[in-house]
Amino acid sequence: MKRPRVRLLAIVPPALPAAARLRGLRGVALALGCDAATIAGAAPEAEVILYSSLAGGTPPFRDVWPHTGPSLRWVHSFEAGVDRLLTPELAASAVRVTNARGVYTESLAEFAVLGVLWFAKQARRLVEQQRARRWEQFEVELARGRTAAVVGYGAVGRTCAGALRKLGMKIVPVGRAETAEREKLHAILGQADVLLAAAPLTPATRHLLDAAAFAALKRGGIVINVGRGPVVDEAALIAALQAGQVGGAALDVFEREPLPPEHPFWAMENVLLSPHATDRTRTPHWTELGMRCFLANFSRYRRRLPLLTPVNKAAGY
Ligand code: GLV
Repeated sequence: MKRPRVRLLAIVPPALPAAARLRGLRGVALALGCDAATIAGAAPEAEVILYSSLAGGTPPFRDVWPHTGPSLRWVHSFEAGVDRLLTPELAASAVRVTNARGVYTESLAEFAVLGVLWFAKQARRLVEQQRARRWEQFEVELARGRTAAVVGYGAVGRTCAGALRKLGMKIVPVGRAETAEREKLHAILGQADVLLAAAPLTPATRHLLDAAAFAALKRGGIVINVGRGPVVDEAALIAALQAGQVGGAALDVFEREPLPPEHPFWAMENVLLSPHATDRTRTPHWTELGMRCFLANFSRYRRRLPLLTPVNKAAGY
């Protein structure tokens, strides 16, 4: 018996390099694009939606949802974080959600290492002295033997922890049990030289890292965020950086993206700033990695096998 064609709506920029892989799929009626007409035309009949919230130009999922119909079974997030996808309606529905869990973790972990070393070795000073042809010796820190508290111990947190361990750092995982009780979190931060945030954005993690958390951190500690911007209270982080309580911050994610031009972070010497691009690897190409994850799930979906990267919609990741 011939299987019915799967109606797949891919809400990704049509120029996405890996999008070509979708055009070759057999047994699939494909609609691809992120413009309003494509979405309004294809969403009502779609059975599967591939949705990217960050690859550029896609509307928020709350604008997509009203167009979807009763045939929708499954939505896959091209990103690991589903905070821009998981609307209350989608969460309450029977539609399954999967994500790019584990796909971009290696590059994030390398950024975490960069963040630690950037401040330990005063990389900004090195660059500036070289530019000025100034021979000025100074002392540096050793990462080995230092402690990193890793807040959010999922795929990203674990991979970062593995990379920091290779530097000889001691890792203290901070999962939901610890973040649920602020005293526990703050007690851990009191031992930490590095606070690495790798948590998904959920109502429970929004501004989890606030003024009290930064005050609890060892004086001069380094903050690294490779998860989601709003997990950090940026106003509190700025104040802690200005006071020297936090010694430096390496940030790939922000409360508002793109970071507005007037934002204080741009001008802060003790901030290393990446425009949410540290997951965008060239080789293998990040969109290829993301597409492979979708296609691996899609092949199982067609064979009615359990999907590989299910999202717990109640938990939000
Ligand atoms: C990127 O930020 C992701 O969530 O994968």
